[in-house]
Amino acid sequence: MCGIFGVVSDLPLVDVLLKGLKRLEYRGYDSAGVALEGAHGLFLERTVGRIESLRSALEEASRGIFQDASIGIAHSRWATHGAVTEANAHPQSDGETALVHNGIFENHTELRAFFPQKKWESETDTETLIPFISEKIRQRRAFLTAVRESLDMVRGGYALLIINKNFPQQLIVAKNGNPVTVGRGKGAFSKSFFVSSDCAAMAPWIGEKADLEDGELCLIQKGPTESKCSFFDSRGVPLAKDWEPFVFADNDCDETDDFALKEIHEQPGLIKERIAAFDQGAFANWGARLAAKDALNFVGCGTSFYAGLVGAYWFEKWARLSTHAEIASEFRYRCPVLPPKSLYVFLSQSGETLDTLKALEYATKHAVETAVMTNVLHSTMAKKAKDLLPLHAGPEMSVISTKAFTAQLAVTACLLLETLAVQGSAHRSALEADFRNVPALLRTVLSNGDAMNAAAEVLATASAVIFLGRGLCYPIALEGALKLKETSYLFAEGYPTGEMKHGPIALMDASVVSVVLAPFDDLFEKTLSNTQEIMARGGRVLFLTDTQGQEKIQKQLCEAMAAGTVKIFLVPPTGELSKAFVYGVAAAQIVSYKTAKLKGRNVDRPRNLAKAVTVE
Ligand code: G6P
Repeated sequence: MCGIFGVVSDLPLVDVLLKGLKRLEYRGYDSAGVALEGAHGLFLERTVGRIESLRSALEEASRGIFQDASIGIAHSRWATHGAVTEANAHPQSDGETALVHNGIFENHTELRAFFPQKKWESETDTETLIPFISEKIRQRRAFLTAVRESLDMVRGGYALLIINKNFPQQLIVAKNGNPVTVGRGKGAFSKSFFVSSDCAAMAPWIGEKADLEDGELCLIQKGPTESKCSFFDSRGVPLAKDWEPFVFADNDCDETDDFALKEIHEQPGLIKERIAAFDQGAFANWGARLAAKDALNFVGCGTSFYAGLVGAYWFEKWARLSTHAEIASEFRYRCPVLPPKSLYVFLSQSGETLDTLKALEYATKHAVETAVMTNVLHSTMAKKAKDLLPLHAGPEMSVISTKAFTAQLAVTACLLLETLAVQGSAHRSALEADFRNVPALLRTVLSNGDAMNAAAEVLATASAVIFLGRGLCYPIALEGALKLKETSYLFAEGYPTGEMKHGPIALMDASVVSVVLAPFDDLFEKTLSNTQEIMARGGRVLFLTDTQGQEKIQKQLCEAMAAGTVKIFLVPPTGELSKAFVYGVAAAQIVSYKTAKLKGRNVDRPRNLAKAVTVE
């Protein structure tokens, strides 16, 4: 996993290289590095930490001598093989060949054994490819041939950018399994080429793009006036490739931190846009198709999986369609039987999560109908999708997924309403009215600043937090626990409220806080009883409930409220569809965000995480 970025240019490129890398930082940000090639030879700089540290180190080390660099490759790392150290950061190099890598060479141990005398400088799998390339170049192979033949030794996934000091005008790109795109510059950069693991990272500078497919290579050659870009298949046979125009709705994603809050507040507007798309018939074709199915399945990871789980509750209850949600990394390896009259929907904000991508490939191979619900329309999954359900949530920059989650819920709600229309369901109009109310309800939730701060103060003092929910609130409880872990590094667990007495209750004491999602619905009384079981063991409780729930709680738990062991965070009353949105935003997003802020965490770039997880 990681972000890779490369530039071949007649203009000063270091600043562009670092800006591009910054735009890719969501793929990993524990260390970073660049290699530059120009009249001065091959120069390497790597640092532990984020791009800003690399920029300072580079400015200090280079003292401006790299104005003449004509080729640069850069990397932002999410460690897989080897700890977060400068030696394990990329580019990896032996002084002759330097490369940056996204992916994993699975047979790196075997590769190491080919060079028993070699003193390896890192613990990375990446370094093991380098001596093969350098040796072939010493045997007078052309650079491209040396890379191609060396890659024959490798098993595993890669997107690679490679330079060599004997070929100071050449940059080689290679792909297998992990995405990489070449961009042709525009405007002042019209004579430049760019390469990246995500074309959005190159957006400010490119006008056209060409994606590499598995096994393909690309050679970018810097000429005295123009640079040239050629594509090859795995045997080295030249390939004709079409350049596609590249248009990207950018947002101001360069410098700001704290995108999380901005993205949380974008949600009412985004849901409104999905409702408008629904009104214009964007989902009209899905109703008959879903109504004719025997089963529906949602597959995803992390937050996307939880959105799928909400969908499963909705579809089973209202459309009476057998519906399941499954974690992508389990789906593929348990060899599931895929019934022919079923639809598999793969959910992924990024469209790059490898577990979900592999699950999609499994389903495609087994010839069932598939669809991809994603926010990134140029992503690998979007390209592989037979049917696409775009989220249109706009670039989600913060590592934690917020607006993509509610967009997934909104698109799923549209699918449900279309299905109910075909089925002639009596519940449809009430559900639709409730769905239309979501933007207004979310605005109310988001304006409730003081209550949110008070809730966060309760959580910030906890040793562990358990999110409890029944029915539809169960997937939201899971999402709440994930968000709190991701942002605050607090130990958090999501549990079905009714299951709490079967084990987790052993954890209860005054240091543990239970966040109880308790809309005043048909499950409220049972939830309240379970909460009393917690309080009887000295546990602290934070209720998320509406006014009717609040009234009941105040009556039944007045002593605990007076003692401060029970607190209430009030949310607006909800219906059957709006419940997941309101409790999702309030319990999962806002409470976690505020708690993380109190603890001084970086919410946009939490430790150890990455936004697109491209390793299994
Ligand atoms: C990472 C993130 C999670 C995210 C998951 C799935 O692990 O830390 O927050 O939910 O990936 O991402 P996707 O892009 O497939 O929705």
